[in-house]
Amino acid sequence: MKKIQTTADLEAVRPKMKQLDAQKKTKIYVHMGTCGIASGAMEVLVSLRQSIKDAKVDDVSIITTGCAGICCREPLVTVALPGQEPIIYEYVDAKKASRIFSEHVIGKQVVKEYAFARGMECQLPERIKNHGNIPGEKSASKEIPGIEDIPFFALQHQRVMHNRGVIDPNNIEDYIGRGGYFSAAKALDSMTSEKIIEEVLDSGLRGRGGAGFPTGLKWKFAAKEPEGVKYVLCNADEGDPGAYMDRNVLESDPHSVLEGMLIAAKAIGAHRGYIYCRAEYPLAVETLNKAIRQARTYGLLGDDILGSGFDFDISVYEGAGAFVCGEETALMRSLEGKRGNPRPRPPFPAHAGLWEKPTVLNNVETLSNVPQIIANGSKWFASVGTEKSKGTKVFSITGDLTNVGCVEVPFGTTLDTIVNKIGGGITEGKHLKAVQLGGPSGGCIPAEHMDVPVDYETLQQYGAIMGSGGLIVMGDDKSAIDIAKFFMEFCKDEACGKCIPGREGTKQMVEILRTIAAGKGCAADIAKLEDLADVVQKTALCALCKTSVNPVMSTLRYFRNEYEAAVACNDAKECAK
Ligand SMILES: Cc1cc2nc3c(=O)[nH]c(=O)nc-3n(C[C@H](O)[C@H](O)[C@H](O)COP(=O)(O)O)c2cc1C
Repeated sequence: MKKIQTTADLEAVRPKMKQLDAQKKTKIYVHMGTCGIASGAMEVLVSLRQSIKDAKVDDVSIITTGCAGICCREPLVTVALPGQEPIIYEYVDAKKASRIFSEHVIGKQVVKEYAFARGMECQLPERIKNHGNIPGEKSASKEIPGIEDIPFFALQHQRVMHNRGVIDPNNIEDYIGRGGYFSAAKALDSMTSEKIIEEVLDSGLRGRGGAGFPTGLKWKFAAKEPEGVKYVLCNADEGDPGAYMDRNVLESDPHSVLEGMLIAAKAIGAHRGYIYCRAEYPLAVETLNKAIRQARTYGLLGDDILGSGFDFDISVYEGAGAFVCGEETALMRSLEGKRGNPRPRPPFPAHAGLWEKPTVLNNVETLSNVPQIIANGSKWFASVGTEKSKGTKVFSITGDLTNVGCVEVPFGTTLDTIVNKIGGGITEGKHLKAVQLGGPSGGCIPAEHMDVPVDYETLQQYGAIMGSGGLIVMGDDKSAIDIAKFFMEFCKDEACGKCIPGREGTKQMVEILRTIAAGKGCAADIAKLEDLADVVQKTALCALCKTSVNPVMSTLRYFRNEYEAAVACNDAKECAK
């Protein structure tokens, strides 16, 4: 492969992809994120390959893509015959795949009993505009719902996920064919560092890793540091229980993250980048490494990128899965080969980060937004969302929910829309008790507040946080004390042990929660829990322990009656004797 040297070379890849589209081949998309593979997508792929071989056809292509969003219905397969609307099949196995091949691919008859939807997610805006039709596509059976009639898809707003289910993450040309690396080319060719930062600042993009810090501002601080060695890091540690948004992005669209890092590098004047990804994400690590190798081959990473004279390269560093290593200062220590302990700030990483050099660290989703901001402009980005929370947010929605999956919605969308409409509501036979947001640093929002819009500030008012996007739905069979105990035990185990409030405070809180859960507590224990929470929150060294008390505080705020009912003695004076 000849290296891409100019934007014109990049442009030349696009028609090549379009030509493939025009070849009138039948396309079979097998959705092979971790969720798909865990449900049996590999067997489905093998079966389909065998069917193609047995049928001796050369006008059928299989495209392996990442997750299609609705993980609970995996394995999913999409069949797109030339000139006909695509059909998504659900719960496919090897036998069903073989039948789909002979009846739909060869016989041109949709297998209605396995079909989930008509259309593909990438066609959604056009299908909505044209009342469920795409000009030039013959409609299949109307008994199967159109994707625009299914709230799970229709109520989402794809930006970060706009390539999911369509591109092969292992094929850089698929990404380029959908406009990938043109933003990097624009940034390298025609934008100054100041202009890039201004665009990102104006967009209102805030860090999706949890704290919601303005991305452009972070970049501005690092850019202001004197020229020399600087680093761009991507935080792909993702340790919150129930969170898998970043894994999903990395497995489906790794180049969007690499491109975001490249633009950040140009903005701050860095020439080296690292992606810190937990080793428990083997598919994401493999996909990233392949993507990096391809980007180097195509001249989109390495020396003299796109003939601009700018050098930047990225390596993947596999973390060992310690939750604390997601915290920025601990992550950098771990990258340096030291024990992953946090350190007090200041100095902030923008001034003294990795190996004491100016460093920008951003989350996967944050970086994945960047190419689109450069391509479409800050106004476009800010056109959805709320006054202070611009753009969209990806959530992994799990728990007692009908549609478990990965979803993207504009900030300001209510919890009701996410849980009851997109998520399809609580699992049959249960009643909604609460939604847990923000993982171990977050909190519960009870069923009566489902009208709350999700944005950074509003969630805090209700005692939860945006966090990185893990959203766990809980039915009324769950105990508030057990929820608090689960997260507190998690934080106790994951705390680095460096500071006393974090090490001892979390331990004592777990012990009290265990006593209360066992029905052996008393009212004084509830008061002690609140006191300890206050001390830990005020005095722990880093946010892991400072915020570890949040699930306790939010369950006490909304479900205090459960704590009071669980203690053996409610007479605080009696207990104190
Ligand atoms: C205990 C702890 C764990 C964290 N884990 C992650 C993580 O897995 N991914 C992430 O992006 N940010 C995580 N963060 C936040 C990071 O410290 C940092 O704020 C973030 O990566 C910055 O990127 P952003 O500005 O794009 O959000 C964690 C913070 C704490 C305190």
